[in-house]
Amino acid sequence: MLKGRHLIDPMDLTVEELESVFKLADEIIENPAEYADVCKGKLLSTCFYEPSTRTRLSFEAAMLRLGGQVLGFSSAESSSAAKGESVRDTMMTIASYADICAMRHPKEGAPKVAALNSPIPVINGGDGGHQHPTQTLTDLLTIRALRGKLTDFTIGICGDLKFGRTVHSLIKALSRYDNIKFILISPEELKIPDYIREEILMKNGLEFQEIERLEDVMNELDILYMTRVQKERFFNEADYVRLKDSYILDKDKMSMAKQDMAVLHPLPRVNEISVEIDNDPRAAYFKQAKYGMYVRMALIMKLLGVEKC
Ligand code: NCD
Repeated sequence: MLKGRHLIDPMDLTVEELESVFKLADEIIENPAEYADVCKGKLLSTCFYEPSTRTRLSFEAAMLRLGGQVLGFSSAESSSAAKGESVRDTMMTIASYADICAMRHPKEGAPKVAALNSPIPVINGGDGGHQHPTQTLTDLLTIRALRGKLTDFTIGICGDLKFGRTVHSLIKALSRYDNIKFILISPEELKIPDYIREEILMKNGLEFQEIERLEDVMNELDILYMTRVQKERFFNEADYVRLKDSYILDKDKMSMAKQDMAVLHPLPRVNEISVEIDNDPRAAYFKQAKYGMYVRMALIMKLLGVEKC
């Protein structure tokens, strides 16, 4: 049962629970009209202390498409955080207005603090450079739709693997599926954090490789997961400027890839995927954004414990 639970880390959901969310998302995609009123009378609060387009709006679209309503704020400056209010106090207040809350915060662990002080389900919409579990639900639903299953593939994850929270959550979640090979492509300075390498990849005996050149592995990949260099997490501008264009996926590189490789990206993109790729049938990132709304519809239903009548 997912009713009443929080989603802070991708490992909060078992593989079976994930599958139940994906099955519900499949049904919603098939018959959206049947779900148009299931959350009537329910309120979702989106508390976003950091910029967002897809995560916040897909949460809001999800709740509205389920017949519920939304309220919230989209920057710390427009909330009482600007006056010095703690996340705990904000959460205790929100909980008396809304039925469920999605929170994004620049500080690692803030949504967890909120969850510990909340009688309503709290969903982590991204906490600093740490985790982003609903982006992972989006990524998994996309991969499952494109490949028909979540096992037996080689995934290249490229870009800012150090600060990219979507990468950390994706590796954690995929560590439980069979026969996945991880090829981690980044500059030396942006390699995955030690806790992901040691606690997830090595501890579970997963097959992985860390390299710098995308060209060297392009022909091996079934999925290429590109990421943006996370400007807002850098301590100095010079390092960001030096690293920001480390990878640019263009037609030349795509010509080395398998005909059925899929390109994913959590978005927003900056320069790391050339727009000339957008019309390539292997570019799946805008489709992926759409799956993000459907999977959030399914997640909201599960955490609220509402069902189709
Ligand atoms: C990501 C995020 O916020 O971590 N975006 C998203 O939620 N789709 C990725 C990013 O900002 O680069």
